[in-house]
Amino acid sequence: MRTIIQTHELSVRSETGEPLLRDISLHVEQGERIALLGRSGSGKSLISSCLAGGLSPTLARTGEIEICGRRIRDSHSVSVRDVAAVRQDSSDALNPLVRIGAQLMLPLKRGRSRVDRKASGGACDAHVLDLLDAVGLHDGHRIARSFPAQLSGGQRQRVCIALALACGPQVLVADEPTTALDVVSQATVLSALSSNLSPATAVVFVTHDLSVASGLCQRAVVLEAGRIVEDSAMRDLIASPAHPTSAALVTEAMRRSEPVS
Ligand SMILES: Nc1ncnc2c1ncn2[C@@H]1O[C@H](COP(=O)(O)OP(=O)(O)OP(=O)(O)O)[C@@H](O)[C@H]1O
Ligand SMILES: [Mg+2]
Repeated sequence: MRTIIQTHELSVRSETGEPLLRDISLHVEQGERIALLGRSGSGKSLISSCLAGGLSPTLARTGEIEICGRRIRDSHSVSVRDVAAVRQDSSDALNPLVRIGAQLMLPLKRGRSRVDRKASGGACDAHVLDLLDAVGLHDGHRIARSFPAQLSGGQRQRVCIALALACGPQVLVADEPTTALDVVSQATVLSALSSNLSPATAVVFVTHDLSVASGLCQRAVVLEAGRIVEDSAMRDLIASPAHPTSAALVTEAMRRSEPVS
């Protein structure tokens, strides 16, 4: 299997020198889907930003990151062809002045050869509607004509997921992509991810909800205070969590699945 993401002693410090991420060594192979789990403030979004670009310039990063064999020196050197990101706050992830349909069309057209680009306009339109439908946005014509500000937060979040799927990336970094959604939309989005992602795409899925993660990911990486405290196969973590934070995640997921009496 080909290694797609490799970090070595990745650390991040705040402006005042406070350690926020400590010695993160992560290895993800082609097609592998890993969940980054941990309590609020444990460092999940910082790792996502390091991998997907967009780490705040006020933070100091040390250590190494390699994605698809390319060394990532700073957040500008992450290739959008390799990595697609769905950010925790999707409010400014879309271009506010471009209609949703045109934003989705861009990566679809880029993926086609110059020759068939003209002939395939209709196919792209249909593909845009299919992608919107897959993430539960069934009134695709209206959504495609809308500007981002004309959508709800949950609709925008789903457009971002459709956009990530349209990119056909080597790596998808999805930072709590379903937090703004009701449970039905959440299930739709997770199934859209499962069925529309290429089996070769590596996924880093950030959540604090183990039950959401277990449906999509084979491996779980648990963080606490900026460190990895457990890195196990998902089934092993659920059956016998090695660290107290992992055990708390398992207990919480089981409690939530109890029928309400
Ligand atoms: N730009 C920043 N400047 C200073 N500290 C930061 C910055 N961004 C994040 N932090 C700190 O780094 C730590 C990890 O933050 P991060 O956003 O990665 O947490 P998280 O695990 O994603 O939490 P949540 O589940 O709430 O999204 C937190 O203590 C946070 O306050
Ligand atoms: Mg976060």
